[in-house]
Amino acid sequence: MKNLIVLVFLLSFFYGHTQKSKLSAEHYQNVRKSFRQKMPDHSVAVLFSAPIRNRANDVDYIYHQDPNFFYLTGWHQPHSVLIIYKDAQTDGSGVYYDKIYVPERNDYMEMWNGKRYDLEEVKELGFDRVAERVDFKSDSQTLDHFDKVMMFEFKNDIRNQKTYIFKDNVRYKVDDPLDLFDLKAAFREAINFPNDFNRLAYKAYQRIMEVDQENHQAVRDEVAYLVKQDSLLLEDEIIKDFLKDPAQDFYKEAKMKTAYALRNINFDTETLSSIMADLREIKTKNEVDLLKKAVAISVVGQIEVMKAMHPEMSEREIQGIHEFVYRKYGAADEGYPSIVGAGENGCVLHYIENDKEDLHNQLVLMDLGAEYYGYTADVTRTIPANGVFSVEQKALYEIVYNSQEAAINASQVGNSFRSIYKLSYDIVAEGLLQLGIIDEASEARKYYPHGLSHHIGLDVHDPGNYGDLKTDMVITIEPGIYIPENSPCDPKWWNIGIRIEDDVLVTSEGPINLSAGAPRDWESIELLMKEESALKDFVLPEINSLIQ
Ligand code: GLY
Ligand code: MN
Ligand code: MN
Repeated sequence: MKNLIVLVFLLSFFYGHTQKSKLSAEHYQNVRKSFRQKMPDHSVAVLFSAPIRNRANDVDYIYHQDPNFFYLTGWHQPHSVLIIYKDAQTDGSGVYYDKIYVPERNDYMEMWNGKRYDLEEVKELGFDRVAERVDFKSDSQTLDHFDKVMMFEFKNDIRNQKTYIFKDNVRYKVDDPLDLFDLKAAFREAINFPNDFNRLAYKAYQRIMEVDQENHQAVRDEVAYLVKQDSLLLEDEIIKDFLKDPAQDFYKEAKMKTAYALRNINFDTETLSSIMADLREIKTKNEVDLLKKAVAISVVGQIEVMKAMHPEMSEREIQGIHEFVYRKYGAADEGYPSIVGAGENGCVLHYIENDKEDLHNQLVLMDLGAEYYGYTADVTRTIPANGVFSVEQKALYEIVYNSQEAAINASQVGNSFRSIYKLSYDIVAEGLLQLGIIDEASEARKYYPHGLSHHIGLDVHDPGNYGDLKTDMVITIEPGIYIPENSPCDPKWWNIGIRIEDDVLVTSEGPINLSAGAPRDWESIELLMKEESALKDFVLPEINSLIQ
């Protein structure tokens, strides 16, 4: 027994995986086909699974797959790599366009951390080729055959992991030679990735290679913008020279110098992001179905809390009711840390402490989203803890509501993200002017400091191009007003924070508010808050009486 206890403390905890995919092999084959169509000629894309992240000591965070990797694979386990090829590759079994590398079976590690999969089982997700991760090390040596190796920039956040081996029945803890850390190291070596690589400088070089007499001003502006983000770029001779006034034949020379600097590089840290944004901003029917479910679950959370809430509840308890509802419906997680902020806490945009215990008659801002098979909702309701809006709370609430209503209705194909933001901003500004909270429309930015809308999907802030709205986008519409203490207005407005956030499917027939089931207008909220809660009989013992 003693040995067993020692063993438990020696092995680090590895907490499960992202929920497995619910989508079919056909879905992922289609996604990878769409991806391939957007790939440059003779290119290859290499994507890695997310690292395991350490929480403290020997406890890791629950594993969450990298959303781009999950989007293209549906594969939920760590220490894996995906390669997609633009052109057909051949081996002894014929032609293939993609290959995934996954951890090998290992009875001992599986006893601790759960099942790994046979290659045949992984193949059920529709890959052309499935291999053990050890093969990636040799296959990566062939990447110099391609015109372009598309990848995401390396982030310096991967731990070298340990594993266990047995020799003569003795167990040894050793560096895992095939973990993500080592797989990426092999990849870096294979593509000659420089230790001092600067992505922004590389991006500037790419732009310079595209410069001509027509676009030179735009390219110079873009390069100047990149320099503003990282002044180190000014130490780069090519970039510094490029930003000087152009002399005759300047562009030819700048391009020649840049081409020379790039001569040994066939990797590309830019194109993959833009392909993923193009693909992920438009949802497939399967994705919309999962998002609808995630949103519906989140809506039930809001409704149940509206019925259960009373002023003696704590922010933490409110959070717990939402998250309990999520689990009840099979959502494995939240898409982002839950925000439950009463009064002044509602004015902190990313408040996640959720530790206030005394809510009185304050407004409680609840921004939460269930993550269902990877897809996350993002729904916010703001309601009075005592069930009745005060005069000031109601006046501000009405402005946010009207702003949101207008923006939802304007979420039509062809309208731009910028235009619906402007519409919502103008309504907030007009409302604040009328209440005497501001004197100029431009001051509204102080009380409505964030954007109106973003895509949702596998990320709560899903990638996209943020131009015009298109059919089958799923976006949030989330105006807000936040008036922290000591703001330059009548103190009666202080400590009121309001956001109303809904998830909207854009269709050719107009917007569909997927979260409309959770009341939004103040009358419906007050009415629902009077209804009996399913939790009314859920009474737990007084805890102090149980402490020995
Ligand atoms: N919950 C994060 C957001 O609303 O964007
Ligand atoms: Mn949002
Ligand atoms: Mn939100």
